[in-house]
Amino acid sequence: MPPNETIWAAEEHTFAKHRLLRRYLDAWLPIMARHNHRLVLVDGFAGPGRYSGGQPGSPLIMLDAYLGHAYRATLPHMARVELTYLFIEKDAGRINHLEGELAKIARPANVNVYAIEGSFDEEMPKLLDGIPADKGLVPTFAFIDPFGYTEHDLQLSSRILGFPRCEVLIYMPFPFIARFVDQPTIAPALTKLYGDESWRTAQGKATLPERIKALHDAFVGALHRSAKYVRSFEIIGNGGSTGYHLFFATGHPLGLEKMKEAMWKVDPVGGARFADSTQTGQLVLFEEQPDLSSLARDLRAQFGNREFAIEQAERFTLEETAFCPSLHLKQVLREIERAGELDARHPTQTRRRNTYPPGTLVTFTQ
Ligand SMILES: C[S@@+](CC[C@H](N)C(=O)[O-])C[C@H]1O[C@@H](n2cnc3c(N)ncnc32)[C@H](O)[C@@H]1O
Repeated sequence: MPPNETIWAAEEHTFAKHRLLRRYLDAWLPIMARHNHRLVLVDGFAGPGRYSGGQPGSPLIMLDAYLGHAYRATLPHMARVELTYLFIEKDAGRINHLEGELAKIARPANVNVYAIEGSFDEEMPKLLDGIPADKGLVPTFAFIDPFGYTEHDLQLSSRILGFPRCEVLIYMPFPFIARFVDQPTIAPALTKLYGDESWRTAQGKATLPERIKALHDAFVGALHRSAKYVRSFEIIGNGGSTGYHLFFATGHPLGLEKMKEAMWKVDPVGGARFADSTQTGQLVLFEEQPDLSSLARDLRAQFGNREFAIEQAERFTLEETAFCPSLHLKQVLREIERAGELDARHPTQTRRRNTYPPGTLVTFTQ
């Protein structure tokens, strides 16, 4: 049950999602700052800014991702970029608490922070409506982290995603939602959340895992209607709890790549682990020594004995698998080449074995 108190004790899933949020912004900020004068970061369900155990909440984590960034002092574009943080929170006590927390943090002139009391569903459209149609949105990252399903309006996140260069990270506690899918009273909320009736595939399913899978897959589909790239990450709790997912949606392959890198680098927190769950049949655990055999299998299935460019393999790895081209692809190709099952050539350069510079053409021989 969602807590009634202004501040509450964090659950293990909270720390896991915070770790990912921070990792991603650590990568996103310097890249985006290099090419843009302004960036917007939205926390749509901001909370009070701190947990009862003293740990920072997501607004402070998002703010510190910039203020505490190792590159802020060393990269000129990081010092120059104008950042606007919008923290939206419905509960008066929590927004007051958040304002108190924010007041303690010294901020340079290029960082604007707005704590907005109100409902995300109402406040975000006002902000979007204020943007001239021809301007598009300033590159925006939105973290959407409601307690449950009634608070969230997917039509709005699709609207955010409809603007170029916007990315959304959404937390979905499916075990909570799945318990109610057969109750007629919650149907309108879920239809609003999904933007259609696709969530109803979860109805009538006998077990909780089946309902969670149906809700998950329908949500991937719903996000795909407005974002080209969608991946979901499951947080697997210390005691093995499953069904808690983070969804990342973006129109940009670079955003997807950075999010995947963040996932592969995020340390387990208090035993909680992450898995890529985009294809629910093929959970891939993020581990320090990942099992790359499924990537090798997928590459062979995709390209068969046809010659392909390394760039095609990079794109396939990024878009169609849980793995990261920058971290895993060449390692897998090297293993296959060492086994004598791969030929590679470069049309214009002499190629060294086990290297795959741009333009390399590869063929699996077995
Ligand atoms: C899961 S908590 C957020 C935790 C926070 N994101 C963090 O990680 O520290 C969800 C918050 O959303 C707030 N909330 C509920 N409905 C809302 C709405 N419609 N718009 C904005 N905030 C809402 C709740 O009061 C609660 O503080």
